[in-house]
Amino acid sequence: MKPAFIQHCLSIKNLSREQILQLLDQAQHLISPTGELIPPPALLTGKTVANLFLENSTRTRCSFEMAAQRLGAHVLNFDVNTSSTRKGETMFDTIDYLTAMGTDLFVIRHAEDEAPHQIAAHLGKRASVINAGDGCNEHPTQAMLDAFTIRHYKGDFSRLKVAIVGDVSHSRVARSNLYALTALGVPDIRLVGPAALLSVESQPAHVSLHHDLISGIEDADVVMALRLQRERMQQASIPNAEEYFQEFGLTAEKLKHAKSDAIIMHPGPMNRGVEIASDIADGPQSVIFAQAKFGVAVRMAIMVMLLGR
Ligand code: CP
Repeated sequence: MKPAFIQHCLSIKNLSREQILQLLDQAQHLISPTGELIPPPALLTGKTVANLFLENSTRTRCSFEMAAQRLGAHVLNFDVNTSSTRKGETMFDTIDYLTAMGTDLFVIRHAEDEAPHQIAAHLGKRASVINAGDGCNEHPTQAMLDAFTIRHYKGDFSRLKVAIVGDVSHSRVARSNLYALTALGVPDIRLVGPAALLSVESQPAHVSLHHDLISGIEDADVVMALRLQRERMQQASIPNAEEYFQEFGLTAEKLKHAKSDAIIMHPGPMNRGVEIASDIADGPQSVIFAQAKFGVAVRMAIMVMLLGR
């Protein structure tokens, strides 16, 4: 079987079920039977990973940094605010200088759709690129860690009902999850939220739209909350935070309509009291912090697939 990625990890859209499972299986080697991270072999000794985050991040940037360090790589954290980007240097020039200095892999977050794709095309085979989130387009490593988390708790994808609740329109996480869960054979995916936040490119038979939270999460095995991405909204197209929480916020009362063993997910950052109640975020069904833990393993597996032996 061909590995999931050869040179770059930019999108999950065109990956097959087998390729995604191969990646998840590689990450599984980095998790103990009790679900803890285990120390990996230093497979990236001598490699240099540059984190270029041109948009804010906590989880993804720290997760990549921890993953690269665990594998023995040198990690370079590029700070755009103190860089020569502020003096007019182009992104491609910055990339070329860092490549000349020996960078093997760029982890790139960018506010513009497909900016990592452009950088990958510019680099060719000189270095690898991982898309750490581009605009409203994709967040492939988040979808991989979400799939890993779902498999960890639910085992099999083929019978699952998954509800993705919130600002689907602006969410690269939702888009990448739709691609991944579709490839993995999830038969019932519900997109739940106000009409203004539920625009989708296409709607295959296994994907349904719900403007009512209760019908959207009815009997669900997985409920994934999304943040309202106000920074990407062109106009005030949704109710205020209090009204949104009343209608679409995940609360204990509303979650009685999902399966009693449903897992609750959120990619972070969470807005407690807007899309999710605090007691749900911290409650027994929440796997939100496990997602972050599994993310380190998944990102190690992706980096090894691109650079390792
Ligand atoms: N999930 C996620 O992408 O979080 P950050 O924006 O903090 O990286």
